[in-house]
Amino acid sequence: MIRILMVCLGNICRSPLAEGILKSKLNSKIFEVDSAGTSAYHKGELPDQRSVEVAQKNGIDITDQRSRPFTKEDFNKFDYIYVMDASNYEDVIAIAENDSEKNKVHLILNKIFPGEDQSVPDPYHNSIDGFKQVFEMLEESCSVIARELKKS
Ligand code: 4NP
Repeated sequence: MIRILMVCLGNICRSPLAEGILKSKLNSKIFEVDSAGTSAYHKGELPDQRSVEVAQKNGIDITDQRSRPFTKEDFNKFDYIYVMDASNYEDVIAIAENDSEKNKVHLILNKIFPGEDQSVPDPYHNSIDGFKQVFEMLEESCSVIARELKKS
């Protein structure tokens, strides 16, 4: 099994979309995809209704997901950890205990803008348009991730 974890702040807007999109592109017998938040603000909650709606419009159901906080055990379980923004990156790296753990952590937009260290904007205080833009960015990034994983 190859395991991939998507991480954002609340685990209700961006990373649930990233999880749902990547899952839709991979064989679940070979790849496990999950998501988590660097905070526990929304622990146990469903994804934000706007993420649910944008996903649904694109044929992806994310209503089985519940928010959970990232923990240091996630470094053991997962092979790849994709974070949405610079602040998530700092928070996750701060918990890493060695270089092997640090090397698992990547900014997801570097998949489509290599080396640019761009962030997926936090859409929480934005309108539905912000969520649509986030979906498009994650769709492109997850296409690259899925293509690379299938080659490996
Ligand atoms: P997410 O968005 O990190 O993409 O899930 C957010 C959700 C909630 C909050 C911030 C960002 N919040 O501060 O509650």
